[in-house]
Amino acid sequence: MLLQNLAAVSAIAGIAAGASLPFPASSHGSHGQSPLITQDPQQIIYDVRRFHVDSRGELDEILRHAKSHDLDVWRVTRDDVDIYFPESSTIPNIFQSKNSTALSPSWTPISPVTTLANHPYPTIGTWNLTTIHNCSFHNSFHDWLDIHSFMQQMAEDYPDVVRVVRIGRTAEGRDIVGLDIGIRERNKKGKPKNWRKHRTVIQGAQHAREWIATSTALYFAHSLLVNKKERGSMTKLLERMDFTIIPVPNPDGYVYTWEHERLWYKNRQDVVGGGGKCKGLDLNRNWGYEWEPASDHKVCTEWYPGEHAFEALETRAISSYLKWTPNIRAFIDLRSYGQLIMHPFSHSCKAHPKDEENLIEAGLGMAKALTKKHGTHMIAGSLCDKLYSAGGNIIDWVYAEAKVSVAYSVMLRDTGTYGFLLPATMIRPVGEETADMVAYLAKWIKTRKP
Ligand SMILES: *[C@@H]1O[C@H](CO)[C@@H](O)[C@H](O)[C@H]1NC(C)=O
Ligand SMILES: *[C@@H]1O[C@H](CO)[C@@H](O)[C@H](O)[C@H]1NC(C)=O
Ligand SMILES: *[C@@H]1O[C@H](CO)[C@@H](O)[C@H](O)[C@H]1NC(C)=O
Repeated sequence: MLLQNLAAVSAIAGIAAGASLPFPASSHGSHGQSPLITQDPQQIIYDVRRFHVDSRGELDEILRHAKSHDLDVWRVTRDDVDIYFPESSTIPNIFQSKNSTALSPSWTPISPVTTLANHPYPTIGTWNLTTIHNCSFHNSFHDWLDIHSFMQQMAEDYPDVVRVVRIGRTAEGRDIVGLDIGIRERNKKGKPKNWRKHRTVIQGAQHAREWIATSTALYFAHSLLVNKKERGSMTKLLERMDFTIIPVPNPDGYVYTWEHERLWYKNRQDVVGGGGKCKGLDLNRNWGYEWEPASDHKVCTEWYPGEHAFEALETRAISSYLKWTPNIRAFIDLRSYGQLIMHPFSHSCKAHPKDEENLIEAGLGMAKALTKKHGTHMIAGSLCDKLYSAGGNIIDWVYAEAKVSVAYSVMLRDTGTYGFLLPATMIRPVGEETADMVAYLAKWIKTRKP
């Protein structure tokens, strides 16, 4: 344990000191744009460009080129596409000739360092979970060990309401764990009754780098536990609904973002195919509904969906949990970034779920509910329409195969100022506004027949 801990500390310290900066500084921009160049070794340096598009055709063209050059697309809207370039010098010609602006988030990874310095090896009891406002956990992002301890502590402090469930295991041998949160009615002998309430499942960062999705899942879980008199408490939702929260569905990837590459997003299992060998596949293209193979079977691409659906241990484990857990009424896949609330389908813009009218109605209500607290503007619509068409998406599978008729993919803050590197000061506001969104959905469900 100590060794593991020391390794984690030095890895984090390495990032902070610039010893293992994930990306080389870009030294030359193209035609007058200035990519982010910073001399500060404490900052992660990267070059993200926003390409403006005037039509769906132009958007599809950019995405096609991005895919053929195996580029990492960070965000897509009707008007623009954010693409990450590891080195400016390698920007393909086709992109050099396009109109773009450089996004220049600057971010100093302060929180990881202070977290580990303060709690070298977190033990249960580190945080006071009595209130959410005074709980220091939500003041910073946390590594996987911290998160594990926090979840265990929830189960110890609220044994009647919280159970930690093991959903599966990753390629590197980490547990995929969820929080099963619900009030168990007890019979006269004090044994829990098997109470068949509706359940909502909320997933954190399937893509490892989307840390805010994980912190928000944990914030929401905590809000379900604190005294109902406290502002922001969501305990009332437990009167009619159970929840499963899976804050870290991709533990290997998440650990990798802390110890090696902050912007990593696939999982970390070995993948082999097309004569190559690489690490990791895109979990959100590996689900078994309308799964699409990679056109060239190149295993090292950013978009690699696996050789077959459910090749990833994570998608396989979580899908069987979803398939065999009764009464799941709603599913929310938290993601970042872009401020979008999206319903199925992802695989095609021509396919429409039969519940689309309901999904649109609830989605608009969710957007409105989320906006109220801090004014964060959200756009609602179908996944394919708001992003692009892609097979093997989790919410397509959840809707079509697990038969959960209320399924959303929610892109949390922001719209590109910080992108994936949101400052820790946003953890609480994003947690609060997202909790309001979930509360709206829970109420909406109550008024509907399953
Ligand atoms: C590039 O986009 C900006 C912002 O939309 C616009 O003002 C400018 O005219 C465009 N330039 C070209 C060459 O298209
Ligand atoms: C935790 O916080 C609550 C409310 O602020 C306080 O009453 C309690 O004493 C605290 N517990 C510990 C162990 O500090
Ligand atoms: C949080 O802590 C402050 C200062 O100790 C205290 O005044 C406040 O009542 C606490 N809030 C809750 C909800 O316990």
